[in-house]
Amino acid sequence: MQKVKIAMTKGRLLKHTIKLLEDAGVDCQPLKEDNRKLVFLLPCYNIEAILLKAADVPTYVEHGVVDMGVAGKDVLLEQEKQLYEVIDLKFGKCKFAVAGKPSMKGGKKHLVVATKYPNVAKNHFAQKGQSVEIIKQEGSVELAPLMGLSDVIVDIVETGKTLKENGLIVLEEIADISARLILNEVSYKTKKKEITEIVNLIEKAVDN
Ligand code: PRP
Repeated sequence: MQKVKIAMTKGRLLKHTIKLLEDAGVDCQPLKEDNRKLVFLLPCYNIEAILLKAADVPTYVEHGVVDMGVAGKDVLLEQEKQLYEVIDLKFGKCKFAVAGKPSMKGGKKHLVVATKYPNVAKNHFAQKGQSVEIIKQEGSVELAPLMGLSDVIVDIVETGKTLKENGLIVLEEIADISARLILNEVSYKTKKKEITEIVNLIEKAVDN
């Protein structure tokens, strides 16, 4: 049985990913140990798990250095990488939204948009024929309209708490987001048996 390499997203998605794999029958004990390791061997299905920042998971999968990965639909929409998206894992649910101060409800002829997702924002406003300037941010995006850097933001909204606590509202919903299982296109051919087995186990665990 060939080794299957899986890239996982550190942070919010990780505990859900571990639970899903355990529901699928994969012993994830090594991943639960409190240390700074980034590579873990999960012996029962000969899986090597690596931990990455969200935005790097699709890159590792596209390049084939790992065979599969768990990534948010937000980064997949932003990056449009060449890979297979095979299962909606139904966790990490949130929405892409345009948000701003309530005074922005009426819109504006030209909008300055701050976001960690410039492609998503560009595509959304291009579809509407809205003129925009996009300012790329790395985090704390909600600050941009508060400080006068932008008119609105395009960001993910989960509970809505961050918007609310900063006096911002959702002006428009763009898309539903959740975690997805993604596959490298070549691995799917060269390790078809191993990958299909793991995909089937995960699919069953998601449905239960
Ligand atoms: C994300 C997102 C929002 C917040 C939404 O930020 O960019 O700021 O979570 O969650 P909520 O609707 O439940 O409040 P993250 O925590 O990833 O930090 P960041 O500011 O570094 O992007």
